[in-house]
Amino acid sequence: MENKITLHDKTFKLFIPNEDIEKAIDAVADRLNQDYADATDRNPAILLCTLNGAVIFAAELLKRLHFPLELKACKLSSYQGTASTGVVKTDVPVPAQLEGRRVIIVEDIVDTGNTIVAMMGQLQERKVQDARVCTLLLKKDVYKKDIHLDYVAMEIPNRFIVGFGLDYDELGRNIKDIYVLDD
Ligand code: IMP
Ligand code: MG
Repeated sequence: MENKITLHDKTFKLFIPNEDIEKAIDAVADRLNQDYADATDRNPAILLCTLNGAVIFAAELLKRLHFPLELKACKLSSYQGTASTGVVKTDVPVPAQLEGRRVIIVEDIVDTGNTIVAMMGQLQERKVQDARVCTLLLKKDVYKKDIHLDYVAMEIPNRFIVGFGLDYDELGRNIKDIYVLDD
C-alpha cells in the first residue's frame, strides 16, 4: 500500500489500513447478527445502502450478516470538494413500500448528520417499524444531531478522508485503505 496518493490537486496520506477497517466491520457485523437474529424469511430486515459512498461497506457487511435481509439503496449527496454544502440533494429517494419494516441505514460516514436527518425523515413518511443507523465512520466532534447512531464501526477526528468508497470529487472510491488529506 502507498504511503501517499494524489487525487485531482490534493495529496493524501495513509490513515486507516484495510485490515483495521475489516476488523471494525467484523465487530459491527457481530452486533447486527445478535440484534437481528429474530429476522425471518417472511419478515426480513432491510439493509438500505446510501449510494455511492457506502457501497463497499455494504458489500463487506453483506458477506458477514447471517439473518434474512433485503438489500435496497437510495442516493443522497451533500458534499462538494472537501466540505459539506449543508444542503442534502436526493438523487434517488428511499424506496416506497417499507411500511412496517425494520430498516438498517448503511452509511459510509456521518459528519454534520444532515444526510441521516433527511433519510430518517423519508423513512418516517414510509411508516417503517424501526430505523437504525449503521455507519462505517463518525466524525464525532462534528455530529450534533439528536438521532442516535446505533452502530458505529470507527470514530475519526474532523479531517477529510478518502478511500474504501469515500471520494474526493468522485475519485478515490476504489482505494482499499483510507487516506487523510495531507495539509
Ligand atoms: P453529512 O450529511 O454532513 O453527515 O455528510 C455525510 C456525507 O458526506 C457522507 O455520506 C459522505 O458522502 C460525505 N462526506 C462526509 N465527510 C466526508 C469525508 O471526509 N470524505 C468524503 N466524503 C465525506
Ligand atoms: Mg455518503
